Amino acid sequence: MKLLQERIRREGIVRSHDVLIVSHFLNHQLDPQLFLAMAKEWQKRFKGKRIDKIMTIEASGIALAVVAGLVMEVPVVFAKKRGSVTLDDDQYCATVYSYTQKKSYAIRVEKDLLKPGEHLLIIDDFLANGQAVLGLAEIARQAECVLEGVGIAIEKGYQPGAALLRERGLDVQSLAVIRSMDPQSGAIEFDEAEAV
Ligand code: G4P
Repeated sequence: MKLLQERIRREGIVRSHDVLIVSHFLNHQLDPQLFLAMAKEWQKRFKGKRIDKIMTIEASGIALAVVAGLVMEVPVVFAKKRGSVTLDDDQYCATVYSYTQKKSYAIRVEKDLLKPGEHLLIIDDFLANGQAVLGLAEIARQAECVLEGVGIAIEKGYQPGAALLRERGLDVQSLAVIRSMDPQSGAIEFDEAEAV
């Protein structure tokens, strides 16, 4: 998606080979107009699929998912990372390993928010190693929901996440796919196939 690519080029900061900072429009300050354009693009890419609900993970996925939910006219459920007062028996739970933080954490969704047979779309900001999406997919499996696809804002295509998810048969639609980043020059190369 050209609009997102341009924004990343203009305002993204390459912190290292693996870390892109996008605090000016995606992770800290948020650009609702850009989010709306992204949501419409996901709507186009998942057209024809039945989507009853959007699922994401706190924190950065939530804002994107809400705009997508508004455009697609469906509710949004987010997996919580922190503990909850709800009893464990009342929640679906999965473990996510973060390569960035080198630790595992639990994600949870209350059972009565996902009904068996519902069709879900996962939305998230970054796809790196794919572990967060795999955790959400595990929760969808426990809930006996149908996972229709995964909408990602920024995929780092040289990290293993997208391939891992596609190997499992998931329809992954990333709006910007980064092929490489150079922290010295700040240069970012995109996979132009996604630049519609
Ligand atoms: P994975 O989910 O694809 O396996 O990724 P990983 O564990 O490596 O990423 C952990 C966190 O770092 C996630 O956010 C993810 O969105 C974020 N992340 C991954 N790569 C980048 C990057 O290049 N730039 C930025 N800014 N973030 C990146 P999180 O821990 O869930 O935090 P939150 O921001 O959603 O609260």
